[in-house]
This record gives sequence, C-alpha cells and structure tokens, in this order.
Amino acid sequence: MISMALLHKKPEYMQKCCELINTEWKRSDTARMRSLENSCDSLPCNIILLQDKVLIGHLKLSSIPSIPEACFVESVVILKSHRGMGYGTKIMNLAEEYCRDCLKLREIYLSTKGQEQFYRKLGYVECPPVSIYGCPINTFRDLSPPPGTKIIAME
Ligand code: ACO
Repeated sequence: MISMALLHKKPEYMQKCCELINTEWKRSDTARMRSLENSCDSLPCNIILLQDKVLIGHLKLSSIPSIPEACFVESVVILKSHRGMGYGTKIMNLAEEYCRDCLKLREIYLSTKGQEQFYRKLGYVECPPVSIYGCPINTFRDLSPPPGTKIIAME
C-alpha cells in the first residue's frame, strides 16, 4: 500500500529519510538531520512516500518570503530501485493536494537542472526566475481552483 506522511509526524523515518536524500545530494548527516527536524504542518514541510511502511520517496516544501501564496519544492527524490514506476508523479500529486487543500497555496515553484521533462509531464511550465534567498528558481505550477487546474504559461 502506498501512503504519504508528514515527516515530523513519523519521526521513526527521520534517519532513513536522511540517508535517501544523501544518496543524491551528499551533506553531513548532522546538517541534514537538523534541516529535517524543522519540518512542520505549514512550511517548511517534509513529505515522505511509504510503500508498505518502507520509505521510498521524499520532497520538501519551503516558503518563498516574497510570495506568501506560493511555496517551492525541493529535494524531490525516489529510491533508486523504485524509479520509473510512477512514484515520483505520485508524491508530487500528493504534495500538490496538500499545498492546495491544507496550506491554501495557489502556486508551486521549483528549480531543476536535468529533470525538466519529468516536471513538464506534471504540468509545470517555465517562468522567469524568482529570487529566493538569492537563488533564482524558474519553473512553476498554478494550483488554482479545481475543477481543472489551470496552467499559466509565462514568457
Ligand atoms: N527525463 C525524462 N523523463 C523522465 C525523467 C527524466 N529524467 N524522469 C522521469 N521521467 C518521466 C517518466 O518516464 C514518466 O513518463 P511516462 O509518464 O510517459 O511514463 C514520467 O516522467 C513520470 O515518471 P515517474 O515514474 O513518476 O518518476 P520517478 O518515480 O522515476 O521519479 C524523479 C522521478 C523524482 C526525478 C526520480 O528520477 C529521482 O529521484 N531522481 C533523482 C533525484 C532528482 O534528480 N530529483 C529531482 C531534483 S529537482 C527538485 O527537487 C525540484
């Protein structure tokens, strides 16, 4: 069975989550754990994907101080052995639902180098860089209201 959880509600997955993220983006366990411990119901929020109680995916939602109705998604990662089976799509869809229905957000931004095609398939479109703590991010998804999520293309 596949389910989503908020990491701070399942602290027993903290170490596994740290290991999963560190397989892609190496950082000291101490720094990584400190970051994961900040997860909360609002932002920042670390979302995990579980398959029969095994952690297979993670992503993090963070605030964008200059755009209160939006967040940005980072550190999206699926366990290597589980890639290409739709789990990346699943965790993104669940995170979008959480953003729209629980956090009442209207937009999601992200930045990627190499996974553009994956995000395009999910409906993300490129947009002008948005500054977040000095780093430009340049892809976004409009979450505004169902039915029919509207995608806005920007030059
Ligand atoms: N290039 C082109 N197409 C891709 C790619 C890619 N790199 N990755 C997935 N796709 C396609 C799949 O073929 C699939 O297409 P289909 O619907 O026509 O079959 C579709 O996108 C959905 O694929 P999923 O199976 O849902 O994706 P997956 O579970 O493999 O997860 C992910 C994708 C998260 C990118 C995974 O490959 C991964 O963990 N990669 C390493 C970490 C990484 O690069 N993360 C993204 C960083 S950017 C960020 O965090 C904002």
